[in-house]
Amino acid sequence: MRVLVTGGAGYIGSVTVAQLCDAGHEVTVLDNLAQGHRAAVDARADFVEGDLAELRALRRLFRARRPEGILHFASHTLVGESMERPFLHLGDNVRNGINLLEAAAEHGARRGTQRESECQDEPGNKDDDKFVAERIVGHAAHAAVYDHARAGRFG
Ligand SMILES: NC(=O)c1ccc[n+]([C@@H]2O[C@H](COP(=O)([O-])OP(=O)(O)OC[C@H]3O[C@@H](n4cnc5c(N)ncnc54)[C@H](O)[C@@H]3O)[C@@H](O)[C@H]2O)c1
Repeated sequence: MRVLVTGGAGYIGSVTVAQLCDAGHEVTVLDNLAQGHRAAVDARADFVEGDLAELRALRRLFRARRPEGILHFASHTLVGESMERPFLHLGDNVRNGINLLEAAAEHGARRGTQRESECQDEPGNKDDDKFVAERIVGHAAHAAVYDHARAGRFG
């Protein structure tokens, strides 16, 4: 399968990329290297340096690589910073997730996943952005099924 791994130069993403390559998948990594390392990306994967905030570039990537599946790990991940700059984390992580969903829906990527939040019942915890993002994925799945037949199901 052609798989897009966002944040694939990061800690979890890079290990995932290596495992996907071992399993014979065709992997594209999108990472802005804000936190990750180019050298951590498996040499068998295609690497695209870019930012999820750039929707037009994201659309180009989807057109060129036509991913069938997506693993979404790209986000601000520093816990201390998430407490000091909550709107940076909430804003970027939610908006960028929406960008990814939008590009995926437009280009028919059918399967996706993202790291789930741990403490959904505790408002104000560092995972609020992921909780919101999960809800949005749910809405997008419904929208894709009912309003956007060619997008298929995302989730
Ligand atoms: N590391 C852990 O122990 C752990 C545990 C549970 C959950 N998680 C979650 O898993 C996910 C990945 O965690 P990690 O530890 O690999 O983090 P990480 O910081 O090592 O990796 C995140 C990657 O995303 C990239 N990135 C950030 N913003 C981007 C953007 N706008 N566009 C493109 N790339 C961008 C960074 O450069 C980095 O390579 C996060 O959602 C994190 O909260 C991590």
